[in-house]
Amino acid sequence: MDALGRRGLGRGGPRVAELGLGAMDAPTSPEGLAAIRAAIAEGVEVIDTAREYAGSEALIGRALREGAPAHGLQLVSKTFSRTVHGAQYDVDRSLRTLGVERVGLYLLHDVSTPEAWEAATGAGGALEGLRAARERGLVGHVGLSSHSMEVLERAIAGGRFDAVMLEYSAFFPATAPLIDLARDRGVGVIVMRPLGGSGRASAMRGRIAAGYDGPLTPANLLRYVWSNAGVSVAIPGASRPAHVRANAAAARAWTPLDAGERRALEAEAARLY
Ligand SMILES: NC(=O)c1ccc[n+]([C@@H]2O[C@H](COP(=O)([O-])OP(=O)(O)OC[C@H]3O[C@@H](n4cnc5c(N)ncnc54)[C@H](OP(=O)(O)O)[C@@H]3O)[C@@H](O)[C@H]2O)c1
Repeated sequence: MDALGRRGLGRGGPRVAELGLGAMDAPTSPEGLAAIRAAIAEGVEVIDTAREYAGSEALIGRALREGAPAHGLQLVSKTFSRTVHGAQYDVDRSLRTLGVERVGLYLLHDVSTPEAWEAATGAGGALEGLRAARERGLVGHVGLSSHSMEVLERAIAGGRFDAVMLEYSAFFPATAPLIDLARDRGVGVIVMRPLGGSGRASAMRGRIAAGYDGPLTPANLLRYVWSNAGVSVAIPGASRPAHVRANAAAARAWTPLDAGERRALEAEAARLY
């Protein structure tokens, strides 16, 4: 099996396979555990979870305990706590639940309002807790996930985060300038919702099953994301092994979209959804 393409997770971050796995929904699927195992077997390294994703950390921990090879895994988890003590408590709980001594990256989860930003990054805020965990060697790098362009820009430009998690896809190209900024500043970029989210992905599957043969496919949506050189890793959510394998096949076969193809995919995404 060919190795997956690899990219740096920001300046000073590890090199990782450009295909990751979003494990948010894995616990709700009977095939969720098999999907995590399939991802690791395919060479995926970044697996995204969170304290908030009930059962997700535990399921990943189970896959690891049952002998899934831990080759270069860079587990990513997140805290919704906004306080220094709450963040450290969540890191400890994540490590216990995952059954590991260290995770690659720990994020402030969904910091999407000015108030959340002030609380989490100000004195006594959760960022201090994550930095303390990094100093203790429990966490390799610290980052932030957000749905706010303003917060993301502050996080990238401020120099206190190793990586950010943001939404980016042919459905949602608006974050492209932030990815450029992150590349310039050496901040890693983890792309969530690369397929536009589960609602659109499900509608897309239905459309393809009904005979649609246009360009809007999961493989082309992933190509769109990987064609941006500022992206470190895409983490499509997949709770079925068949989807994990299809995404790994796409990762092994993709070629960059040119500007015309990129615009055509954005136009098709806007037309259909
Ligand atoms: N930090 C945050 O605030 C935040 C917010 C949202 C998401 N996230 C992270 O980002 C990850 C991805 O986001 P997402 O799951 O919302 O959206 P997504 O990755 O755009 O789409 C996931 C959907 O695509 C389907 N899918 C995956 N591969 C497919 C394929 N090859 N063919 C057809 N369908 C396929 C999945 O189905 P199955 O599940 O049935 O396999 C699922 O319904 C999450 O898992 C989570 O880790 C973070």
